[in-house]
Amino acid sequence: MLLESVSMPKEVDIEKVVRQHLEMEQVFAGFAPKGDGTAHGPQKQEDPMAVAQKSTELEKIAAEVRQCRKCDLGTLRTNAVPGEGNPDARIMFVGEAPGADEDAQGRPFVGRAGQLLDKIIEACGLKRKDVFIGNVLKCRPPDNRDPRAEEIISCLPYLQRQIEIIEPEIIVALGAHAAKTLLNTAKSIGQLRGQFHEYYSGIGRPPVKLMATYHTAYLLRNYSQENRRRVWEDMKKVLVELDLPIPQ
Ligand code: URA
Repeated sequence: MLLESVSMPKEVDIEKVVRQHLEMEQVFAGFAPKGDGTAHGPQKQEDPMAVAQKSTELEKIAAEVRQCRKCDLGTLRTNAVPGEGNPDARIMFVGEAPGADEDAQGRPFVGRAGQLLDKIIEACGLKRKDVFIGNVLKCRPPDNRDPRAEEIISCLPYLQRQIEIIEPEIIVALGAHAAKTLLNTAKSIGQLRGQFHEYYSGIGRPPVKLMATYHTAYLLRNYSQENRRRVWEDMKKVLVELDLPIPQ
């Protein structure tokens, strides 16, 4: 299971956690943008009315998600986690499902995996508010177990509608569950990552480019230089595709 957990393993290796944190600072903070930190072109420059409309539609979905009882997870959650961010984002990050921290706060990617995602976003010269962050499942599976097929089937329409509204130019699928669900494939994350794929959001709509990369929770557990380099290479491809500068 990819997800982090509040119920951390009983034997927490504090040294490892501290080392990862320091490395995370060095590896990704090194790419922080220069100047005033203003991101270059994270918005699609739609007219403000259209963006306000998107925001309203996303809020409607969020309200539905908070009431949702389509599967058992709806009765087990503390908070649903509909997703959050820029309604007009060019980049949409999609994870697997909320973990314990997210369940407690009702916000996506706020635990350790989320802190690493924040670093990666900053390393790209962007801010969290520039992008949209969501998940395949909107409620936490107990003990952070893998999502079940019937839960994905119940929940996926929320994510599909979010993608239709936001119309991101690129979806970054974090980890195997997000990538395999959105691409409807059984291929492994190792096979999928590092290349653009096409996500089809509906008849008559152009496909959205999808970059699959490792989940940040996986990265924390397998914190090698090689894995960090792979994720950074994947994100550089995203920046190039969007014509955004690569912070040096
Ligand atoms: N992992 C996920 O896949 N999603 C979250 O929101 C947090 C951790």
